[in-house]
Amino acid sequence: MIAIVLGTRPEIIKMSPIIRECEARNLDYFILHTGQHYSYEMDRAFFEDLELPEPKYNLDVGSGTHAEQTSRILTGIEKVLVQEKPDIVLVQGDTNTVMAGALAAAKLHIRVGHVEAGLRSFDRTMPEEINRVVADHISDYLFAPTETARRYLQNEGIEESKICVTGNTIVDAVFQNREISKRRADILKDLGLEPKGYFLVTSHRQENVDNPDNLRNIIAGLEAVHREYSLPVIFPMHPRTRKMVEQFGISLDGISVMNPIGFLEFLQLESNARLVLTDSGGVQEETCILGVPCVTLRENTERPETIEVGANVLAGTDSAEILRCVQHMLDRNGRWPNPYGDGTAGSMITTICGGIRGDFPQLHSSSEKASNLGELI
Ligand code: UD1
Ligand code: UDP
Repeated sequence: MIAIVLGTRPEIIKMSPIIRECEARNLDYFILHTGQHYSYEMDRAFFEDLELPEPKYNLDVGSGTHAEQTSRILTGIEKVLVQEKPDIVLVQGDTNTVMAGALAAAKLHIRVGHVEAGLRSFDRTMPEEINRVVADHISDYLFAPTETARRYLQNEGIEESKICVTGNTIVDAVFQNREISKRRADILKDLGLEPKGYFLVTSHRQENVDNPDNLRNIIAGLEAVHREYSLPVIFPMHPRTRKMVEQFGISLDGISVMNPIGFLEFLQLESNARLVLTDSGGVQEETCILGVPCVTLRENTERPETIEVGANVLAGTDSAEILRCVQHMLDRNGRWPNPYGDGTAGSMITTICGGIRGDFPQLHSSSEKASNLGELI
């Protein structure tokens, strides 16, 4: 039995190809939602857009400090795992849900599979970097999206036999939903936008938006881009960012702010944007896959592949640098290779997980677990 643990917007999107595979193969699995994200537009909207089955459990942990949120997730997940006794727990990415899910399972001696393993920004001030490192080091199956991620894991001493390079499930999600998005979403028309006639923005990183100077600088950069090109700047705003904009009393001149939008609508906006400015991990990947230039509002990235292929550049949060990077990236033609795989990651991961049988709650030696992965591939 496979337990799929998720809790936030990007986890729902990136787990969706695996959930679809489990459904199609009629596997014994269940979804455990931690409730880290709970607003309609951060949660339910994606189950509806992607036509996903209901989670069997929702822990409703909600928001809080890192310790509060993580501890509520740990306690809640442990209870479910003790009751359900799955053979493997799958987590995806780098959120508090991921670290707590992996930790609860590992302590119960349940095998842990980490989807999107091996990403590193090498910046421990990011909460996500701590979550990734912890999750990777206690996982039994590390599904690395690229060879770079595999190398980072090996450099940290993680056994080669635990790692499998699968590509990133975001490619599957983009391929599976791009055409549906063209048919079902009408957001360009609704917003009166022309293809390639606007900029798209997302920003929600704690180190950016919880810091008044960084948030003001980013917004000043967006306003400068709007003034320079006289094109609409569309900003579906994450609830964390909206809260901080209100708290710091910042106004956004000339920027079209709206609530977060569904995945199908977002894919349509992203595919047709002249350029995207973001601090999101998933959006850096998607723009790279879709052939849209990206300017990242951060000093570092755990997605170096996007920069290597020429799809992305790091601007940080300085407003003049943001404008300079936009000018630079507007020349890119979008014809770079996609470094994230061929859209079969979900199928590969499901094949591996579907073949795992554990004897809960016995402890398995790491070599036994490792040989399982080797055999299953
Ligand atoms: C979390 C993840 C981050 C991921 C992001 C995806 C951690 C440490 N952070 O950040 O890695 O990139 O999700 O979007 O796990 N809020 C709502 N409604 C919601 C969810 C949040 O209003 O449904 C507001 C609350 O005010 C909350 C704030 O957003 O305090 C932050 O939410 P939280 O889950 O702590 O972190 P994210 O910024 O969403
Ligand atoms: N996304 C969306 N609607 C929005 C903004 C983003 O559907 O209004 C999707 C986007 O396509 C991507 C994912 O959300 O797949 C990225 O999530 P987020 O930026 O919240 O988290 P991160 O990837 O940084 O962890």
